[in-house]
Amino acid sequence: MNLINLKNQTIASQYVATELLKQVKSKPNTVLGLATGNTMIDVYKCLSELLNINQIDLSRVATFNLDEYVGLAPNHKQSYHVYMNEHLFKHNDSWQKDNIHLPMGNAKDVVHESKVYEQLLCDIGPADIQILGIGENGHIGFNEPYTSFDSVTSVVDLTPSTIKANSKHFEKIEDVPKQAISLGLTSIMRAKRIILLALGRHKRDAIKQLLKDDISESLPASILRQHANVEVIVDDEIFQTIKSTKLIP
Ligand code: GLP
Repeated sequence: MNLINLKNQTIASQYVATELLKQVKSKPNTVLGLATGNTMIDVYKCLSELLNINQIDLSRVATFNLDEYVGLAPNHKQSYHVYMNEHLFKHNDSWQKDNIHLPMGNAKDVVHESKVYEQLLCDIGPADIQILGIGENGHIGFNEPYTSFDSVTSVVDLTPSTIKANSKHFEKIEDVPKQAISLGLTSIMRAKRIILLALGRHKRDAIKQLLKDDISESLPASILRQHANVEVIVDDEIFQTIKSTKLIP
């Protein structure tokens, strides 16, 4: 696991966007694993600009998002479908709708939908690059603490702390869905390369534990230490608080 301090949100976002740009430029049929959350907004802003100025043809790029809230229609304002369209897909004409994949949170049978999504990722994937944010409790995707490391895409329950953290995007906390369809930890680990981006002091405990504590299902992100090609990008605020931590090689 390679920990890199990229000082601030601007430099870190530019770095992640540049890695994604290089990937799609060098391999037109790239498979990208995409994430949502505030952390990724600047990444997608920068990526959209870079894709445009480099006139990259995205028509063969396939994308797979990590997760979607159960119960939200794809046109719901707080759905990850809308988030991805607003922050990424609508900014470049060559994204192909058929190659963009997000779980349907409003599917009649969400368990079946999870299985179909997992199979599709197996058929088209693995992701060449998977980008990840991290929850304050160490979740990746919506894999909350004590999710089995063997998990594949499924319907998962959100913890009260995640519901609270994500309530800032909803009018009231009662509106936050209690479940999501999420790629499992095994599904995420199949990616060839993983870039985790963590910004801001509220993420420092999760990153500290990720670097210091044992690999354990109590911290879902710790599974990443078993992956051969993972970068953890942090800002200086996080880095300064973990400097003294004995870093995991
Ligand atoms: C949600 C998403 C995660 C994301 C996390 C952090 O829970 N399911 O994939 O990493 O939020 O979001 P933020 O970047 O807003 O802190």
